[in-house]
Amino acid sequence: MADAKLSTSAVSSHAFSYQPPAINGDFVGKHIISVDQFKRQDLDILFDAATSIRKRIRTHDRGLTELCAGKVMASLFFEASTRTDMSFQAAMRRLGGDVIAVSNGVRFSSMYKGENLSDTVRATGCYSDVVVLRHPEIGSSYEAAYYLDLLNARIDNPTVAISGGDGIGEHPTQALLDIFTVFDQKQSLDNMTITLVGDLLHGRTVHSLAKLIAYYDAADVRLCLVSPENLRMPADITALVRSHGISVCETDDLQEVIADTDVIYWTRVQEERFADAADYERIKDRYVMTPQVLAQTKPDAILLHPLPRKHEMGTRDDHDIMDLDKRAIYFEQMENGMFVRMALLVKVLRGVYV
Ligand code: ASP
Ligand code: CP
Repeated sequence: MADAKLSTSAVSSHAFSYQPPAINGDFVGKHIISVDQFKRQDLDILFDAATSIRKRIRTHDRGLTELCAGKVMASLFFEASTRTDMSFQAAMRRLGGDVIAVSNGVRFSSMYKGENLSDTVRATGCYSDVVVLRHPEIGSSYEAAYYLDLLNARIDNPTVAISGGDGIGEHPTQALLDIFTVFDQKQSLDNMTITLVGDLLHGRTVHSLAKLIAYYDAADVRLCLVSPENLRMPADITALVRSHGISVCETDDLQEVIADTDVIYWTRVQEERFADAADYERIKDRYVMTPQVLAQTKPDAILLHPLPRKHEMGTRDDHDIMDLDKRAIYFEQMENGMFVRMALLVKVLRGVYV
């Protein structure tokens, strides 16, 4: 496999014209590839289900394993992942479903013989009910959804795509679990100042999260975007957020906003997205969360991070101190990922009330 390479042209023109279906209160059979599909009512349905599932897990409710019994989830991850991949797998198994993946990892899939993504996804769709896809190219999940629709018109057992992150585009299920976590901790998003910090240009989690904050439609939300000038949030996303009546501030100075922030969302500089390693080196230590920085936040602020964390969260010793601070809720956030993904799988595959 020494010179096997993932095709760099995974995405066809179809991906860019594909419109993902709006949820509108009904998740069944719908691909989940962008937060643009969600409105507040859809989030309420999903979060009720996630809360119920969490309670049922904690009370060892065996009935959960009936919810997706007989269903198969395919895990197709062409980029590194710990949380998204494993939480989806755990979610499906806890719902009684099965999980398939290429036996020796995707590097032994036929994509490394040169097969294109649309054929690989359709092959996967022939054997599963849901394909969770992570791929380095923006638009890859749209490509998967478009071609699965074509396949679904030909076979009896339709398959949905769920994005596990597409390049620097979106990470919709991460944003769902992020908003769920904020809601869980604060009971509301009303009157919150939410600050996103770091690589807002390449970070797909913050792209989805900023939009989902807008779609959540809370009252009096302020969104602060803290990044170096060259890593700012894409302008179309800030425009969309503003069009929902949210006041957006953009700055490179964390000190301007940290003391007034209720929800602080720290992110990793996305090293793998930089064409020039020197550019990454110049920027990587621009914002570092440490116990001293955390101490500047309100006593009831919450600190989220999609993880993995590197030096943008200081040293290992810093981690150990911050992990004990009640404001740091990234472990709760990470655990919530499984509950939210369980809720999503049940809603998409079965549509039942849980
Ligand atoms: N795990 C998240 C993602 O895949 C965030 C990160 O990697 O920094 O987008
Ligand atoms: N938050 C997140 O997507 O983590 P992984 O990259 O480990 O899946």
